[in-house]
Amino acid sequence: MPLYFFEELDRLKKEYGEEVIDFGIGDPDLPTDERIIEALCEASKNPRYHKYSPYQGFRELRLKIKEWYEKRFEVKLDEDKEVLVLIGSKEGLSHLPYVILDEGDYAIIPSPSYPAYKNACRMAKAEIYEVFLPEENDFYPDLSSIPDEILMRTKIFYINYPNNPTGQTTNPEFFKEILKLAEKYDFLVVNDFVYSEIYYKEPPESILKYDTEKKFSIEIHSFSKTFNMTGWRLGFCVGNHEVVDNLLKFKSTIDNCQFGAIQEAGIKALSLADEIGKKMRNIYKKRKEKVLEFLKNKNIEFFEPKATFYIWAKPPENSFDFCINTLKNTKVLITPGEGFGEGGRDFMRFSLTVSDDKIKTALERLDMLL
Ligand SMILES: Cc1ncc(COP(=O)(O)O)c(C=O)c1O
Repeated sequence: MPLYFFEELDRLKKEYGEEVIDFGIGDPDLPTDERIIEALCEASKNPRYHKYSPYQGFRELRLKIKEWYEKRFEVKLDEDKEVLVLIGSKEGLSHLPYVILDEGDYAIIPSPSYPAYKNACRMAKAEIYEVFLPEENDFYPDLSSIPDEILMRTKIFYINYPNNPTGQTTNPEFFKEILKLAEKYDFLVVNDFVYSEIYYKEPPESILKYDTEKKFSIEIHSFSKTFNMTGWRLGFCVGNHEVVDNLLKFKSTIDNCQFGAIQEAGIKALSLADEIGKKMRNIYKKRKEKVLEFLKNKNIEFFEPKATFYIWAKPPENSFDFCINTLKNTKVLITPGEGFGEGGRDFMRFSLTVSDDKIKTALERLDMLL
């Protein structure tokens, strides 16, 4: 196993001390909304939550997820069969390979992508086929480039739109195309949908809207990004009922779901999703504009993000060297694209989870270097 990439970055950051301004990991800088914290405090006094939580998550939260999905994505869910509460999305994303894959089956993983998919599939002893997200294909995989003999042995295909690290968003044509392929070769499409509420154009759509019988797909969500709740560890999985059921079986052997009071706070969060989503989008939009203006002035190419709080840009020299030199010389940390796989090698990623003041200071420091 390689060291988890962001752990490595964290080590590097510590070497350069307190002054480092971190455009690295996508961990929102703003606190969780007071009303969600209040809901947790109140719920924590309820003895109901001092016992083990139901493996699948509390029904009230599953019902709230169902209600939110219908309103936000026009997708109807069965709260008992098609919804499973997770201890953060990373937990579900990285347990799925054990549920779906036998040794020697193929997992298709985009490159670049969030590193946990590949590492988890490796641990489950699956074969991995990396499909690039080429810039000339608007950061969608060219499905026709995947060899037939790989597709025949594929059991799971991870996608992530809105996309970390590129900032590309969902696209109904792409969803239809990949679902067609999933039907032909009988594999599961997992859409990592944790950035569904951080967008700058149209609200992203659910893949389940295009897989009306929920035969070939599931979606994984998180409270981390929309609600600034990364430390709380709450997420959920929705979609194909067999996959939900099998993931539940797997999880019930190794965990007892999240603390009930956190689940109740999750209900509060979802009831505030419109308001908080809008507020966060405005904040990230302003930050994005500042950084993009700087990059434009410096003639640094970038993809204008349609969603997520990331900016995917092309450094003037080798990405890894550039990011390390920048850290050394300016104490500004930018993630080298190769941390997301071979397909990210020519890029670097800025995470806009840094306060306005710090962005200003960071851009002044970078101005002296570039
Ligand atoms: C694409 C993607 N998926 C999943 C996660 C994990 O989020 P969570 O806090 O829900 O585990 C992240 C976190 O950075 C991410 O970028």
